[in-house]
Amino acid sequence: MLDTAQHKARLRSYFDGVGFSRWSAIYGDANLSAVRKTIRAGHAVMLSTAEAWAGAAFPQADDATALDAGCGTGLFSLALARHGFNVSAVDLAPQMAVATAANAEAAGLGSKVAARAADLDEITGSYDLVSCFDVLIHYPSELFGGMLSHLASLSRGTLLFTYAPYSPILAAMHRVGGYFPHSQRRTDIKMIRETQVRQALADSGMHLRRSARVGKGFYHVMLVEASRTTA
Ligand SMILES: C[S@@+](CC[C@H](N)C(=O)[O-])C[C@H]1O[C@@H](n2cnc3c(N)ncnc32)[C@H](O)[C@@H]1O
Repeated sequence: MLDTAQHKARLRSYFDGVGFSRWSAIYGDANLSAVRKTIRAGHAVMLSTAEAWAGAAFPQADDATALDAGCGTGLFSLALARHGFNVSAVDLAPQMAVATAANAEAAGLGSKVAARAADLDEITGSYDLVSCFDVLIHYPSELFGGMLSHLASLSRGTLLFTYAPYSPILAAMHRVGGYFPHSQRRTDIKMIRETQVRQALADSGMHLRRSARVGKGFYHVMLVEASRTTA
């Protein structure tokens, strides 16, 4: 049986250590291998699509609140802040939260982005928009439903998230290479079936408004916009 605390501790240690350097490079402008360039390119497409959807859902976001759960280095937190949201950016890995705060400060958005280190399952409150990108892909299906329901409970309007859609071809790709070729660097990607996503949303009083599959090289996710159907 999966030990949840141990799984999270392993992710925290990865994203606060070697994973921090690797993902900062992918999310920044460092030189990358061909494999990682496809991850950077796919991630950029996913983020720009999500930004357009957030803009359509909140044409006037001034003073609306957003939670960016698993903010990483803050790429989407800063995009939301530029759009007018007051953003709470949270990440399991302290180094990621520190990087988000520094990036917000450097972009002149320090007053719009409050970054801190925490497990998304510990977050409380209510936000107009909740985003969670490329985080749930690291959690197996027995944890996925609970985490998605928790994120949904924090949103009074829109929920944007990604998951790794189940596909036999991708399962084979992950077996062969994963995102990173060396086992000690590898972050396992957990594939989830769409029926589980729809069920978790329905159980949380949300419905799936739209989704888009983003696939480039080694980057494959399903981006989802859900909105609240019940008060
Ligand atoms: C692949 S990065 C994605 C970063 C960012 N969302 C983006 O798309 O640019 C995954 C991030 O999720 C964070 N994370 C993983 N599990 C988490 C949890 N339970 N609570 C909060 N953050 C988590 C990791 O520390 C890491 O920064």
